[in-house]
Amino acid sequence: MEKYNQLLLQNRAWVEQMLREDKDFFNKLANTQKPEFLWIGCADSRVPANQITGTQPGEVFVHRNIANMVVHTDMNMLSVLDYAVNVLEVNHVIVCGHYGCGGVRAAMGHKQIGLIDNWIRHIKDVYRLHQDELEAITDDKQRENRFIELNVMEQVYDLGKTSIIQNAWQRRGGYPYIHGWVYDVANGIIKDLKVSMHDDSEMPDVYKFEKMRRV
Ligand code: CO
Repeated sequence: MEKYNQLLLQNRAWVEQMLREDKDFFNKLANTQKPEFLWIGCADSRVPANQITGTQPGEVFVHRNIANMVVHTDMNMLSVLDYAVNVLEVNHVIVCGHYGCGGVRAAMGHKQIGLIDNWIRHIKDVYRLHQDELEAITDDKQRENRFIELNVMEQVYDLGKTSIIQNAWQRRGGYPYIHGWVYDVANGIIKDLKVSMHDDSEMPDVYKFEKMRRV
């Protein structure tokens, strides 16, 4: 049997299992979703948002790209963010990176891969911001791990720089909270980087927008 057919078989088995546990599981999800979380994660196959957080369909709205980036010209990311924050009204946005991230590793090197080089350049910008700290770390693996953490932190700040998040904080009394996490593919543990933001108090002034006037 072709390998992909296995996925369809596993899907049927999963449906049966879910129905055994709760016969209304799919009926309840059929008409609406009310997720509490937006997840911005890496496209890496080892970091599936639901599985590693023990969550079910309906609980997490998910956007994934290479190296969990918040790029302000990315219409896909902006649309997901706007919908999650303003329509679904999620209370938490989680940026989750992971140790061993190939995108971040590529950003430390000089090899050309292809079109992706232009995406990876955004990660190089994070390196340049933190060059002194990173280059003071002599161990290659430790430097890479720190770069992965700093990249997540910068994406958290980048979310805070968007008009979408700043307007939501204003309108929704500090929600959504934004969090930065790193998943370890080697042991399955998620580390909270404790860089949560729910207002612009720590944001450099130049990024702060005036409050929107509503008529
Ligand atoms: Co990755």
